[in-house]
Amino acid sequence: MSEERFLVTGALGVIGAWTVATLVRASVPVVAFDLGDDTRRLRLILSDEELAQVAIVRGDTTDRASIEHALDAHEITHVVHLAALLIPLIKADPPYGGLVNVVGTLNVFASVKERRDRIRGLAYASSIAAYDRADDPGHPVPTDAVGHPLTHYGVNKQANEGAARIYWLDDSVASVGLRPYIVYGPGRDTGLTAAPSLAMAAAAQGDGYHIPFGGRIMLQHAADAAAAFISAARAATEEARVFNLGGGSVHVRDCIAAIERAAPQVEGRITFDDEQLPFPEEFEAETLERALGPLSWRPLDEGVRETVEHYRRVGSAVSPAPVSPRAEPGS
Ligand SMILES: NC(=O)c1ccc[n+]([C@@H]2O[C@H](COP(=O)([O-])OP(=O)(O)OC[C@H]3O[C@@H](n4cnc5c(N)ncnc54)[C@H](O)[C@@H]3O)[C@@H](O)[C@H]2O)c1
Repeated sequence: MSEERFLVTGALGVIGAWTVATLVRASVPVVAFDLGDDTRRLRLILSDEELAQVAIVRGDTTDRASIEHALDAHEITHVVHLAALLIPLIKADPPYGGLVNVVGTLNVFASVKERRDRIRGLAYASSIAAYDRADDPGHPVPTDAVGHPLTHYGVNKQANEGAARIYWLDDSVASVGLRPYIVYGPGRDTGLTAAPSLAMAAAAQGDGYHIPFGGRIMLQHAADAAAAFISAARAATEEARVFNLGGGSVHVRDCIAAIERAAPQVEGRITFDDEQLPFPEEFEAETLERALGPLSWRPLDEGVRETVEHYRRVGSAVSPAPVSPRAEPGS
């Protein structure tokens, strides 16, 4: 029996569900902490037997007492903090967005600070949305580049990175922040950047799909992103470090070609717009692996094939949401 006990906030989200699944499969006790009660992503990814091993705790990161209670009741040793509101919700209500994304994260750090003797690692999600397209230097954005985001979401994420830095300087709370780009795979079903995954879900059912953006992006399979967050929590023993996630840069058209190889019956029916996302095209990620050790990133063809096959097996539990190419992306 492992001596580690993980708490994952935002565990009912896509990265959270894959993080929980990865820990369960490694026989590491895990508490799934989330405000919501929709367990469809956990059920999509875990078997009933695996799900029975997960302690699901309803809690709100804006309520510090609920975090502290979960940390103590389960004698947590590692925290992966993923709970956040994405762009459309924050845009509709920036003060509430700030409450969840900024104050909620401060609550997690404050709770960990009081339990530094037991909690050995804290990883949290930042985002490449902490950068705007105008920050693109024409080559992969270095880890320590300064971003100038044009969304509250991006500014919230910058605030998270700043809070982590100050918690290290003032209180010796070590952490590792990771900046995903587009996480894809089974369970990725909300936000504009869910479109590649929704196209894979549609293709599994023999349907076409329109991806409302184009250009070069970085696609990170949710299982690989989850593994990186778990490694990050284990590696968070000193300083407040932040890294971009890897996975390689691809054009949306390469993603569509991979979907067509996995589901030849949809050939010509997955389309995309020329409109680019408001982010730089590529981020440097070697620094992450130098710090955490080697991480595994599925080749695009493999990740797409697995996703299409997963949706074929379980049936599509997602309903593609209408999205506009000019809407701001969900993450
Ligand atoms: N998915 C991506 O491509 C991507 C890209 C960059 C960054 N991120 C970041 O990674 C993290 C996870 O993303 P995701 O795609 O899995 O998100 P998601 O929207 O799928 O899941 C977020 C989860 O957080 C929960 N939550 C929201 N407010 C909460 C609160 N106050 N207390 C407890 N739980 C709360 C929600 O119920 C939801 O289950 C987020 O911090 C996100 O900003 C994701």
